Amino acid sequence: MSDDLLKQVPGPHRMVTGSELSADQDPEILSLRPDYLREYIGQKEVVETLNIAIEAAKGRGEPIEHVLLHGPPGLGKTTLAHIIANELGGGLTVTSGPALEKGGDLIGLLTRLETGDILFVDEIHRTPRAVEEFLYPAMEDFSVDFVFDKGVHARSHRFRLKRFVLVGATTRVGLISAPLRDRFGIFRSLDFYDESDLVRIALRSAELLELEIDDGGARELSRRSRGTPRIVNRLLKRVRDFSQVRGDGRITQDSVIEALQLEGVDARGLTGLDRRYLRTIIRYYGGGPVGIEAIAATLQEESDTLVDVVEPYLLKIGFITRTSSGRKASEEAYRHLDVATGTRQRTIF
Ligand code: ADE
Repeated sequence: MSDDLLKQVPGPHRMVTGSELSADQDPEILSLRPDYLREYIGQKEVVETLNIAIEAAKGRGEPIEHVLLHGPPGLGKTTLAHIIANELGGGLTVTSGPALEKGGDLIGLLTRLETGDILFVDEIHRTPRAVEEFLYPAMEDFSVDFVFDKGVHARSHRFRLKRFVLVGATTRVGLISAPLRDRFGIFRSLDFYDESDLVRIALRSAELLELEIDDGGARELSRRSRGTPRIVNRLLKRVRDFSQVRGDGRITQDSVIEALQLEGVDARGLTGLDRRYLRTIIRYYGGGPVGIEAIAATLQEESDTLVDVVEPYLLKIGFITRTSSGRKASEEAYRHLDVATGTRQRTIF
């Protein structure tokens, strides 16, 4: 994220490391993000937990406990980190697990934090083990141990840190070690948004972008957004372009359908990659069960992308199941692909 992007977010947001930040970096989409909990739509229980923790901590005049947020990409983990910083009036430092290559990278960030600042570590499950070791005393005792020299000359110096708040985000909570997980006081999972929340998000974003959208347009956009606000906002921009060039600028159900057909997004919000994934299971592996590595090899995609990005929503809508022997396509997936491809023969796509 560039400094320009950071400046768009209110509050003193200090620095960023690494080029691997996974959040959507389009400034216009970033500007659609809510800045405070009261503006946040959906994830009611998570918002309630954070509201209570923040109010209680403010009442005591101290920072909140460390927060771990878990869930598929695009559901609001990064947005919530920004919101926590805004609500607490602290500075925000953003980094990611893979960007923290050495202990020194993390120590450099930690020692610059002021009391009440937020350190946001995206993809925290990808933090190297050696770096993770520095996080334990930092989170628990607000201190880090520097080690100078090696072998018999090794000396260590304990450095006291200011009382900061670590906000960790992960798509794979199972990959986080128990000692790290146990050091978070607040742990919440974000789930896919239901259609009514996505409609409200679409209407809010359209208003911020000064677009005219009717209820049918907002509903169709929501149905095709895979339960994910970031996708609502991204597709809204595609539909805006389409409606401006091919229509009168107004966003209706028809303009959403036409625009998103052009984008390869079907009536259930599946993309070309989703459909290729399902077809691979059905066509090459007889509907499954099949292991993720076999699917990834056939598709020539990273298995991590399939596990993090493609599968969660297909599991959520029941198009696949995961068994101990691998992934299976459901009857509903077969039916959907028949319709999507206009063929009656199941295995011919
Ligand atoms: N924009 C993206 N996510 C949002 C949310 N949860 N609430 C309001 N606006 C959003």
